[in-house]
Amino acid sequence: MRRAVLAVLLLTSLTGCNSREKVKNGGGNADRGKQLVTKYGCDTCHIIPGVKGAQGMVGPTLEHIASRQTIASRFPNSPQTMMRWIQNPQSFDPQTSMPNMNVTPADARDITAYLFTLK
Ligand code: HEC
Repeated sequence: MRRAVLAVLLLTSLTGCNSREKVKNGGGNADRGKQLVTKYGCDTCHIIPGVKGAQGMVGPTLEHIASRQTIASRFPNSPQTMMRWIQNPQSFDPQTSMPNMNVTPADARDITAYLFTLK
């Protein structure tokens, strides 16, 4: 009996973990985000692990971007900040050389979900 209770507890904590994972990456669809980085041309400027041909050297590599403390070495990294950065880098720094790519909010959410798989 106690074992059954433990099993149920374990299962609920595992599924709970899943939804927490979603919040941690901003709640987007990482598979779709992976395709969008090519659609928007992020790959022409960035090395993006897992994205074929994404070897751009104009911007910094996005390897381990999910594990970094900051975005562009100066803004605290979080899914929410990442979504805003992707949509409008100039709102963080008018001088930044990353262009505004007119990414929609939904697409920024999915791209963020993919970038947050790059631990
Ligand atoms: C024309 C080249 C160019 C394109 C296209 C581009 N970026 Fe960037 N990106 C940059 C540059 C340059 C920086 C560094 C900005 C800075 O430090 O001010 C940067 C910074 C970043 C960072 C922060 C990296 C770090 O090391 O902290 C992320 C994340 C990022 N870009 C994601 C994207 C995504 C997603 C797209 C596509 C929607 C994209 N970029 C399109 C040039 C580009």
